[in-house]
Amino acid sequence: MEFAGKVALVTGSAAGIGRAVVLELARQGAAVALADLDQVGTERVAAEIQAQGGRCMAYRVDVSQESGVAAAIADIVSRCGRLDMLVNAAGFLRYTPVAELSMADWKRMIEVHLMGTFLCCREALRPMKSQKAGSIVNFSSGLGAKGAKNAAHYAAAKAGIVGFTKSLAMEVAADGIRVNAVAPGPIDTALLRRDATEEEFAAEVRNREKTIPMGRIGVPEDLVGPCLFLLGEMSRYVTGQTIHINGGGFFLG
Ligand SMILES: NC(=O)c1ccc[n+]([C@@H]2O[C@H](COP(=O)([O-])OP(=O)(O)OC[C@H]3O[C@@H](n4cnc5c(N)ncnc54)[C@H](O)[C@@H]3O)[C@@H](O)[C@H]2O)c1
Repeated sequence: MEFAGKVALVTGSAAGIGRAVVLELARQGAAVALADLDQVGTERVAAEIQAQGGRCMAYRVDVSQESGVAAAIADIVSRCGRLDMLVNAAGFLRYTPVAELSMADWKRMIEVHLMGTFLCCREALRPMKSQKAGSIVNFSSGLGAKGAKNAAHYAAAKAGIVGFTKSLAMEVAADGIRVNAVAPGPIDTALLRRDATEEEFAAEVRNREKTIPMGRIGVPEDLVGPCLFLLGEMSRYVTGQTIHINGGGFFLG
């Protein structure tokens, strides 16, 4: 119960990786706040946590909206008196070649990933600075390092998150706040499946697995250990880092 008495906010927690991380934080004793655009999914995960005996708060938040993010974090602090951990896992992926990418699609990608990460971090810094403690994990992607055909806007946003993470880590280290990132390879979630049929997705997985030394794509639970490591005391001298979690796949491009 390393996280007993601690308070965590996880964005994108209605599904996929965010859901897996928030469930484990609650199992390990943290009071958790869920924030996601998907209200139905958020309520479903909140019910799972409550059924396990966990303490949780649920917010319908678009992470790119300043007022919603600020209001959710202010509410968490007024109820719990603190905020110890933030995980920025909200996100989406859409493939469009640059030549066909509209300004609106480019903007939305940057707004949700890069601006959303910035906004949630900025608001979380207020309580964390006054506590002189806090730990933040941002979600980049292997594609941010490798680049991605037809997903330049996604890769650019995810590469931006690495630069943002390093910079913020330097700014707030003296306040006792650590800021790190994780960069997953392909993980079996709705984001990866998009609108593919089971057959199309199975073919895509077979293709991807050829380039992964561990021989399989990831599952959301593969991210739980690295995120909890970065959030907790075990990583107390780690900041500004990006950990790639990909079964070794990064090295084969
Ligand atoms: N699945 C992968 O292969 C993969 C690989 C690398 C990085 N990532 C990153 O991991 C993170 C989690 O993705 P996932 O695979 O679990 O996806 P997912 O689709 O399963 O979950 C993403 C969640 O984010 C929420 N969300 C989307 N836009 C939002 C917004 N504007 N405000 C609030 N919530 C919003 C969605 O409603 C959803 O619940 C994302 O940042 C994603 O870019 C995923």
